[in-house]
Amino acid sequence: MEYLLAIESTCDETAAAIIDRDRCVIASAVASQEEIHTRFHGVVPELAARHHLERIVPIIDRVIEQSAIDPAVELAAVAVATEPGLPGSLLVGLAAAKALCIAWKKPLVAVNHVQAHIYACQMGRETSVFPCVGFVVSGGHTNLYHCHSPSQWTYLGGTIDDAVGEAFDKVAVMLGLPYPGGPELSRLATQGNPAAFTLPRPMLSDPHTLNMSFSGLKTAVRYHLVGPGKQDLTAIDLNEQTRRDMAASFQRAAVECLVGKAVLALQRTGEKRLCVGGGVAANSLLRSELQSAVQRCGAELVLAPPELCTDNAAMGAIAWEHVDRGEFADLGIDIQPGLLRK
Ligand code: KG4
Ligand code: ZN
Repeated sequence: MEYLLAIESTCDETAAAIIDRDRCVIASAVASQEEIHTRFHGVVPELAARHHLERIVPIIDRVIEQSAIDPAVELAAVAVATEPGLPGSLLVGLAAAKALCIAWKKPLVAVNHVQAHIYACQMGRETSVFPCVGFVVSGGHTNLYHCHSPSQWTYLGGTIDDAVGEAFDKVAVMLGLPYPGGPELSRLATQGNPAAFTLPRPMLSDPHTLNMSFSGLKTAVRYHLVGPGKQDLTAIDLNEQTRRDMAASFQRAAVECLVGKAVLALQRTGEKRLCVGGGVAANSLLRSELQSAVQRCGAELVLAPPELCTDNAAMGAIAWEHVDRGEFADLGIDIQPGLLRK
């Protein structure tokens, strides 16, 4: 049996996995940096890169040990996410992958992190999920694609400002919740009334665009809590029910925007399958609302398994698609921090 070593370091998670040709994950490890970035209420790129540097070798060692493979003999390739992401973070993963390719005399595979998030939907499934509409909802991206195959994509639309996960995280800060705020906010929302606050659904009612916007929604939350202007949020003492109700109202508005555009993308492309990945795809309200909306369209919904929604290296299994087609990267390859919308 041949294996792949996949490395992921696009943002603040340092991750590695060993995956066999059948896309079975033999070993997977993720070192989160939540405790480092929490006091800044968000990821500090320079700190993220430095911590990747400390963790990348131990994480790779761990999955090699757990899988008990001989990398120099049994690896078919070393795969690494080279785009998109934070430049310093991407560089650490790519440098590690290149060094291992040289040491073990293995080919290098470059993985697109956004495509890998959608490929998480393929994991554990016998039949191909492609073609489909792919929806990446994370802290860095909120984009819809027409996915003809695992790596042939057409960009359909996406956020014109904040990613939805970023909006969750920033509203969570306003509600006094720790980073990353998405999961915390959705927990708080279960005890709140989603109709308590009237919040906007930017761009939702425009059937001519698959673009979305979350920045105005985030600002509307702020205005509801402290009024317009630059008032200091930390000076406001929100009562518990207000926090719960705002969490529920914000979550409802954000989810409605996502579901509406996902349905429009299915209608526009005529595809009968929607695959959703990325950190926010772990959100229970989004999962259940998508389920009913997609069903009403007569389409199939494939959600990434909850444990593969947030950043991980197991979704680097997409690299097997490249190996199978003989698509290897030159060792001179560089990172691509920006998202190419093509
Ligand atoms: O995919 P991911 O790990 O990193 C990026 O590629 O951005 O996504 C992280 C994002 C964070 O913004 C986090 O707050 C959000 O996903 N998130 C959630 C939930 N779990 C993670 N947002 C809402 N509800 C959740 N349950
Ligand atoms: Zn991600």
